[in-house]
Amino acid sequence: MIVDTVLNNAKAHLKGEIVDCSIAIEEGKIHKIGKETQMPKSDLKVNLHNLLVLPGLIDSHVHLRDEGRAFKEDFISGTSAAAAGGFATVLDMPNNEPVTMSVEALKNRMNLAEKRTLVNVGLYSEFPTNLGQVSALVAQGAVGFKLFMGAQIGGLNHDDDQSLHEGLKSAGESGAVVAVHAEDKALLMANEQKLKQAKHNGPADFLFAHSEEVEKKAIQRLLKASDKTKTHIHFCHVTSKQGLEVIGEAKKAEKTVTCEVTPNHLMLSSAEVRHYGMMAIIAPPLRDRNHQEALWSGLSSKVVDSLGSDHAPHTPEEKSASNVWGVKVGVPGLETTLPLMLTMVKKNRLTLPRMVELLAEKPAQIFGLKGKGKLEGGKDADLTIIDYKRNWTIDALKFKSKAKFSPYNGWEVTGKPVKTFVNGGLVMDEGEIVAKPGCGRVLRGGQT
Ligand code: DOR
Ligand code: ZN
Ligand code: ZN
Repeated sequence: MIVDTVLNNAKAHLKGEIVDCSIAIEEGKIHKIGKETQMPKSDLKVNLHNLLVLPGLIDSHVHLRDEGRAFKEDFISGTSAAAAGGFATVLDMPNNEPVTMSVEALKNRMNLAEKRTLVNVGLYSEFPTNLGQVSALVAQGAVGFKLFMGAQIGGLNHDDDQSLHEGLKSAGESGAVVAVHAEDKALLMANEQKLKQAKHNGPADFLFAHSEEVEKKAIQRLLKASDKTKTHIHFCHVTSKQGLEVIGEAKKAEKTVTCEVTPNHLMLSSAEVRHYGMMAIIAPPLRDRNHQEALWSGLSSKVVDSLGSDHAPHTPEEKSASNVWGVKVGVPGLETTLPLMLTMVKKNRLTLPRMVELLAEKPAQIFGLKGKGKLEGGKDADLTIIDYKRNWTIDALKFKSKAKFSPYNGWEVTGKPVKTFVNGGLVMDEGEIVAKPGCGRVLRGGQT
């Protein structure tokens, strides 16, 4: 047999250990992992010179925009950023223009992604207005439903406990995960109104409005509403000690709940908001060091299941409003997440196997991405290849994302993604995109 590609001299992350090996790839799948002498003949041989090979990383929380918001990011720029950052798969959020919340909108977005994506992409849907459409959205391939509790975005009236319960129940009955942005809208609005009336319009005021209590209240309310459903709830970007405690208790009570944190909340604190001003305004916001430490503890104790970048591209103008209530929230993250985490591995805050669990194995499990998350014969040949020792400086102007700003601009990091393989094809090589838009696949929920 002659396979498509053999990668030699790899240091691959296999079942939690680094193993010297070769990897044979055939028709987009990992055909075999073993000694070089055991490899079949191949059309192409690549010498990896002892680079580290991880399963293709998965970012389960990105905003790729496109359509009406293509001025901020589109599938090509966003998935180029993913490949450059070492991600082979991304899951895209539905707060788009139009909002992804109908079969038609999902289909249109899938068609667009099919032509433009450079990595594998799964699409979330918001809840439709008519819950009768939930199963049709799942059949169309939504990877999950996003519930944004801080404002009214999708079609579900989440102010009402009963309709919130009905929404969660119907997603669970269709076997879909519900990814939740947990901020209590009523409390948030009340806080905001008081601050606005007092003309408190600075970055610190945003942090007051989006308090820990706002997060905790939403998590508690959501868990209550999901009672008597079997729905898998995945809490996005948890930021507070209290929030994690409530999730930890729910896990002990054997609820089907998982949660994610972002590198932003691990690497930065409210002190940085004073330094960066509007640029560091993200929602939920950066908090003080006690919360930051609680998130790191959550990584070790495994209350935290996964990492998601919450890649949220905006234009420089949108980020530089003088009034915090007018600023667009979020920062890009696809090109900084992996180097930041590798740097923390080097600093012994995280082990490499745990990082792989957080950025590949767990997201694959949570979202049912069957061929993904592990390096094993038969899995998809999605590979993230890393120069583990390379010291370099983050330069936001070099981002593939349209959003060329970052709180990490100028940071010295160790460890760089140097090649990204997607379904057996090389998409990124030494920071350059070497494949054509459309080479990635649109993942249709549950199927890969
Ligand atoms: O920081 C954020 N950015 N938080 C959100 O909830 C939305 C996101 C975005 O779409 O920009
Ligand atoms: Zn969010
Ligand atoms: Zn988000």
